Amino acid sequence: MNLDIKEYIEKEFYYLHQHPELSYREFKTTERLRQDLVDNGIEILPYNLETGLVGSIGSGDKTVAIRADIDALPILEEAVVPYKSLYDGVMHACGHDSHAAIILGAALLLKQQEALLKGKVRVIFQPAEEAPGGARKIIEAGVLDKVSAIFGIHSAPIYDVGTLGITGGPTHAAVEKFELLFEGNGTHAAHPNLGKDTVLIASHFITAVQSIVSREIDPIDSAVVSVTHIQAGNTWNVIPQSAFLEGTIRTYTRESRILAKQRFEELAKGIASTFGIKVSLKWTVELPATFNDYKLEQLARTTALEEGFIVEDAPRSLGGEDFSLYQEKIPGFFVLIGTGKTFPNHNPKFRISPEALYPAAKYVATLVRNYLES
Ligand code: NI
Repeated sequence: MNLDIKEYIEKEFYYLHQHPELSYREFKTTERLRQDLVDNGIEILPYNLETGLVGSIGSGDKTVAIRADIDALPILEEAVVPYKSLYDGVMHACGHDSHAAIILGAALLLKQQEALLKGKVRVIFQPAEEAPGGARKIIEAGVLDKVSAIFGIHSAPIYDVGTLGITGGPTHAAVEKFELLFEGNGTHAAHPNLGKDTVLIASHFITAVQSIVSREIDPIDSAVVSVTHIQAGNTWNVIPQSAFLEGTIRTYTRESRILAKQRFEELAKGIASTFGIKVSLKWTVELPATFNDYKLEQLARTTALEEGFIVEDAPRSLGGEDFSLYQEKIPGFFVLIGTGKTFPNHNPKFRISPEALYPAAKYVATLVRNYLES
């Protein structure tokens, strides 16, 4: 094969960057990647997926998976790049285009070495990481069956090209999204005694939930409770009938996660009952914390040095990453790829240095080979 993989994946990266698609709408992206696999003789496994796809390389009993997410964000791009998004208001601002290009590159490299591989590689292009939770679709389709480990990557604009962030244990938090509705009894602002003031009651609740992190969670552990959206009333002289709140809870450990949710529910119900009104609570996003397997960490580190990378400890964050859903099932490791220091992920000026792609692809391919040989 005379394919120049470096040039090939850079070209695919430019295409993906110019054609960003939102979660669960990654139809063109899926088609493009499907064509890439077909053109390069990589088998596509017949899983029932609306968007996203899974390729397979090699043979044998041991199976390892590599995963890229492929969705973009509803952000108007402000980055100055010659391959700017062609879709107004949609942008690959989290670098998932680079993840797809890197994992594609790793797949092409592994395909070239297929005869020497000591097992099978499942190449996962996952939809809707930002939804979040597209990983659930992949798991429900059965893609992890017989897979003994999984590797994932993420673009990291905190590092120069040539640096990898590698840390064992939890690096991304468990994510809960809550939606809460206090239902009281509307009345004239001048006659509060004739109603139940949901604005006052919601205020008590918003203050009280801050005690979860400061007074209930072990101070050595990290957690955040944020009420980010309040909606109640629409004028000055009416006490509104209801108050809607939404926001998020972030935790690292299982114990803190259970405790935070339990106390949050108890405070909502307790405050509602104290003031004699109704409350309903819905958890609309629930993701565990990531957990990077310590054995795989060793492999990730030695492979990084073998491939000439500088290794740094990846910073822990209370951001979420649905790679955690795979790690709940099988050992997994998530590596941060230095893509050139620039604006943070999800910023309209975020950008990737394309020269980061090929070395990262080579790294992932070597990591997979080392895993299969271990
Ligand atoms: Ni991301």
